[in-house]
Parts: sequence; C-alpha cells; structure tokens
Amino acid sequence: MESTTATVKPQFSQAAQAEIARLFTHYPAERRKSALLPLLHIAQAEFGGWVSPEVQDLVAETIGILPIEVYEVSSFYTMFNLKPVGKHVLEICRTGPCMLRGSDELTANLERITGAKVGGTSPDGLFTLKEVECLAACGTAPIVQVREKYYEQLDTQEAVDAMLNELRNLVHRPLLPWEETGLQHTQQ
Ligand code: FES
Repeated sequence: MESTTATVKPQFSQAAQAEIARLFTHYPAERRKSALLPLLHIAQAEFGGWVSPEVQDLVAETIGILPIEVYEVSSFYTMFNLKPVGKHVLEICRTGPCMLRGSDELTANLERITGAKVGGTSPDGLFTLKEVECLAACGTAPIVQVREKYYEQLDTQEAVDAMLNELRNLVHRPLLPWEETGLQHTQQ
C-alpha cells in the first residue's frame, strides 16, 4: 500500500535567502563550495539549532554540490548538530588544560544539575551537553561555550549556577548569524 505520509521539504526564509545571496557575493561562482561552512551555520540557526538530512540536502542544492559533500563536513565539525538539541547547547571543553582544571567534575556537575547526559538533552528541553576539544581559552579553564559566548573559570559552584541562571533567563531561540551579535535577554 502506498504511503500517504508526505515529507515537507525545508525552505530558507526570505531573510535567510537574502543573507545567503550576500554570502555568495564573497566567493567566485566556481568556488561557491567554499561557502559551505557559513551556509551550514545559517541553516543550523534557521532550522532550530540542528541540521537534519533534509536540511543538509537543501544546503547541497543551494550551493550546487552533492549531498555527500555536505554530510562529510557536517559530521566532521562538532559545531554542527546532527540531531535535535535543547534551547542551549553547552559545549564543555575536555582537552588537557581544562581537564587538569576540573572539566570532568564540571561535566558531572552539569549532568547532575540539568538531568542531561553528555550527548543528550535535559528533560525540560533547556540544555544539551556536548564535550568538545580545546576552545582556545586554556588560561581561564575550565570553559563552556554556548553559541558565541564563553563561560570561563567554571571551577566553583557559584560560577556554574550563574551561567545556568543566565541561560534560563535568555530568550529561548538561537540567534540567526546575521542578527546583531550578543545574547538577548528576556523582557522582565
Ligand atoms: S583546553 Fe580547554 S580551552 Fe584549551
């Protein structure tokens, strides 16, 4: 029996399309593949913080390359999420200097507080925990990155609580790359 389930093909919004057109002006037409990383960032922000296979196919179509060329890149870089994520993705550095400054304890603490396991999302949907390699801020280890912001010296409970409380009070949507940088806070 023929399936009646239709998959809706994702489409970029007009704002995203305008940004993509602007992005492509930075590359010669024959080198447009070089825009793949920024285009994936636009797609991830546009479609809820992750890039599904359908979204990656749209990226391939938009840039004029094979889907496998997109999959190869998206699965290599940890900044691209290949499954749904929570409102905030906490990228916990686990490389040597951060480990020596307590990143294992920080990870265990964040798992305990949020109820999420590394690679998963908290039951309230607010936090996804990921472990990543050096974030180039070893001098203020241990570090967590959330989108464009670094939370540093998270070796005290006060610092961890302050980070989580700040995130809980933020507008619950990822910023689009072409929007003003900086995290926006909810109206009180
Ligand atoms: S080792 Fe964590 S920022 Fe470098």
